[in-house]
Amino acid sequence: MHPAPPGVSPILYTLLVFVHIFVTMVAAGLNASYVIWIMRGVKNPASLSFALRGVKFIDDYVANPCYLLGGLTGLLMILMGKPVAAFLWVAIGLYVLAMAIAYGVYTPLLSRQIKTLDALGPDHPDYQALARRSNQIGAAMGILVVIIVALKIFEPPLW
Ligand code: HEM
Repeated sequence: MHPAPPGVSPILYTLLVFVHIFVTMVAAGLNASYVIWIMRGVKNPASLSFALRGVKFIDDYVANPCYLLGGLTGLLMILMGKPVAAFLWVAIGLYVLAMAIAYGVYTPLLSRQIKTLDALGPDHPDYQALARRSNQIGAAMGILVVIIVALKIFEPPLW
């Protein structure tokens, strides 16, 4: 259960927790689908551009906005009086890092990857290097989200 902080309407708080978990669940689930789309595109190069553009559309217009809404609802829970335990500070730190990488690195990298694919094709070394880097960055962000969820569920006593 998610007891509401003192003086806060339990219905309102539970609704906030529901939205928080739902939007971060949708974002994490969509992120996990990127690997499938990209692998299908690699197996069938004629559809690679379509697959990468699909991943970029999902990332820009659904996954990242869901993560932002997740951050906002999380902040609202804290402003309503939810105590911030050590694990939650670590989770918030990892969230800020993941969002900085998402907007500062992954989004522009994916744009360059799509442009380079269109210009040079899937077999060109420049495209291959960009594809490798964006897969590595994508995997790193995935690991950050898994650690955040684990911190939230296990609530380890850190300090
Ligand atoms: C990738 C980002 C995030 C994910 C996947 C995530 C996921 C979750 C999950 C699954 C829970 C429920 C845990 C449980 O049932 O005990 C939770 C609770 C919570 N999250 Fe997040 N969260 C994220 C980011 C944030 C951020 C950025 C904040 C704060 C700014 C935040 C604040 C909270 C709070 C306060 C709770 C406790 C709700 C309660 O039990 O009363 N979360 N989060």
